Amino acid sequence: MIERSPGNAYKCWLTYRRLEDEALLQEYQGKFKKILVAGKSPVMISIREELQAGLEGILGIEAVIGTEAPAEATVYIMKTDQEPVNKVVSAEEINKLTEEGFLLKTAVLQDKEVLIVTGRSERGLLYGTFHLLRQLQMGKEFSSLDYLSNPGSPLRMINHWDNLDGSIERGYAGNSIFYEGNELTANLERVKDYARLVASLGLNSVVINNVNVHQEETKLITDRLPMVKTIADIFRNYGIVTFLSINFASPVELGDLDTADPLAEDVKRWWKDKAAEIYAEIPDFGGFLVKADSEYRPGPFTYNRDHADGANMLAEALEPFGGILIWRAFVYNCRQDWRDLETDRAKAAYDTFMPLDGKFKDNVIIQIKNGPMDFQVREPVSPLFGGLKKTNQILELQITQEYTGQQRHLCYLVPQWKEILEFDTYAEGKGSTISKIVTGAVIPQKHYGFAAVSNIGNDENWTGHTLAQANFYGYGRLAWDPELPAEEITEEWIRLTFGNDPDLLKTIGKILLNSWETYENYTSPLGIGWMVKPNHHYGPDVDGYEYSLWGTYHRADHFGIGVDRTVKYGTGYVGQYYPENAEKYESMEKCPEELLLFFHRVPYTYRLKSGKTLIQHIYDTHFEGVEQVEEMIKDWQGIKDKIDDETYRHVEERFNIQLEHAKEWRDVINSYFYRKSGIPDELNRKIY
Ligand code: GCU
Repeated sequence: MIERSPGNAYKCWLTYRRLEDEALLQEYQGKFKKILVAGKSPVMISIREELQAGLEGILGIEAVIGTEAPAEATVYIMKTDQEPVNKVVSAEEINKLTEEGFLLKTAVLQDKEVLIVTGRSERGLLYGTFHLLRQLQMGKEFSSLDYLSNPGSPLRMINHWDNLDGSIERGYAGNSIFYEGNELTANLERVKDYARLVASLGLNSVVINNVNVHQEETKLITDRLPMVKTIADIFRNYGIVTFLSINFASPVELGDLDTADPLAEDVKRWWKDKAAEIYAEIPDFGGFLVKADSEYRPGPFTYNRDHADGANMLAEALEPFGGILIWRAFVYNCRQDWRDLETDRAKAAYDTFMPLDGKFKDNVIIQIKNGPMDFQVREPVSPLFGGLKKTNQILELQITQEYTGQQRHLCYLVPQWKEILEFDTYAEGKGSTISKIVTGAVIPQKHYGFAAVSNIGNDENWTGHTLAQANFYGYGRLAWDPELPAEEITEEWIRLTFGNDPDLLKTIGKILLNSWETYENYTSPLGIGWMVKPNHHYGPDVDGYEYSLWGTYHRADHFGIGVDRTVKYGTGYVGQYYPENAEKYESMEKCPEELLLFFHRVPYTYRLKSGKTLIQHIYDTHFEGVEQVEEMIKDWQGIKDKIDDETYRHVEERFNIQLEHAKEWRDVINSYFYRKSGIPDELNRKIY
């Protein structure tokens, strides 16, 4: 049976639809009638509410959920040190749990088969509850519920690029869910629902405003602090810590001082006072995120100070309250002359931050974008990861699809993120993967983990494209456990969102898992990036960035295309990697082909490993990309009867837009290269 109720898209993976398997349903209805959720704190209340909603939806029962032990309870949700859980859970199991981890354990208590959900903290219990509901929704057997899980990293963040006027920088799903017309949204219920979605994945921190902090947002640390407090109060109930992006020049912008020099005593005092004022209102406030001296944002350079001076001053202000200062590494010269063949934007972050390694306070974190440029469909992994060895570092991903189809195209990013996480930096020899760096296993770090730019807006379905919900879900799951295989995450999301029908798992799984490669095929080839329309970043414009100030060039001519970033002949970027990677990237033969044009300048007649010339590869992949979109649409049509009408039609509509647009990409790119190279397609297909 397919539920056709509108609003499923709003509920995302917390739809809580009735379990399909009758036998299991009956078994679970018996087992989940009486539940003990020990405690009355806000987080425990959230747990109770979630269970009530989840069990009503999945099992169709109104469970009795008490705060004190009813003799007949069969499910116990309580901390490890509480009775009777402490009798059932062994010391060994407790030792395996970290602060936010959880344990599900089936046991026999007073002759009854019971289920224990436990952890050291309320957060652990919350995450354990969401995990339990997921398992029920996926139709897992009672006997297979035993499970212990700890998050890999302490910091699992979402960054919102929301502005107070309600707009979202690079937002493709409507306006902000937090702000409207410079005020807080009237729809706080939706903020609560957002907190549920965030917590359900084990994410624990949210930055609630854009890294580009304009005039109104600067006031979030003063006049508008009550708005922050309201959001933080909702988030806290779901174990989420609130952070703010701040303007480095705040003391000047707010008219209090005539300098923002990080070494000036009055500036230091100003920030200390601000921190104290914020913590007086929000005692568990997380800290600040800062974009400084980047894309015209103010920073310490104005005062001839460096990034460490800037970051440490702010970190010192936050330190007495346990706050964290997150400083972005996205720093480069955005006023480059395209005629300058020496300067390479890809090198900028490493060149800027490596000399500062070891100079940051231990409550400073450097937030590094996955690649050295800017969230292109394909980039190498930033060499700063593992390059920095004495500095806390977190990985910044982009869930919002700025360069990957803006949630009009389907581009499921989990496979891309998996590749990034599996990349071996060789920082401490073989096996020093990004996944290990973000879980603190390679370099000693006090703070480590993940951040990602949100794809959430106030569209009914949150993400514009309903299937783009899978990107948010996938990010959250990877932030909890970066070792999870892409296929497993994908399957979970489909089961929770659409149901457990094997046909759905197979078809939607295929659609999602192929979509990144498909998108890459019809857009910019082999890691070169940037062939998009400037400003909006939607749609093909091969030379859109070629003669600009942004340091983003492909340098195509009649002979070939690509940027020589080798040490021997090129910009030297390759030299920023550890030797194992540098050797690979330095050589045109050994360079992974999907990144060939990122690292090398290649003639159109160069033969790839497939035996095809570069130009033929470009033509072929672009034709193939469009065919893949056509196939995706056919696959979707094949499951029409198993998807609710609203979602079916919505996705089909987006797919049709994607198809038209993929053709545009194909024809623009192919014609461009045909005209440059003069080499015809071997298969004589239509090129303009
Ligand atoms: C990209 C994006 C900007 C954003 C910037 C950043 O360049 O286009 O909108 O501000 O990244 O990450 O700071």
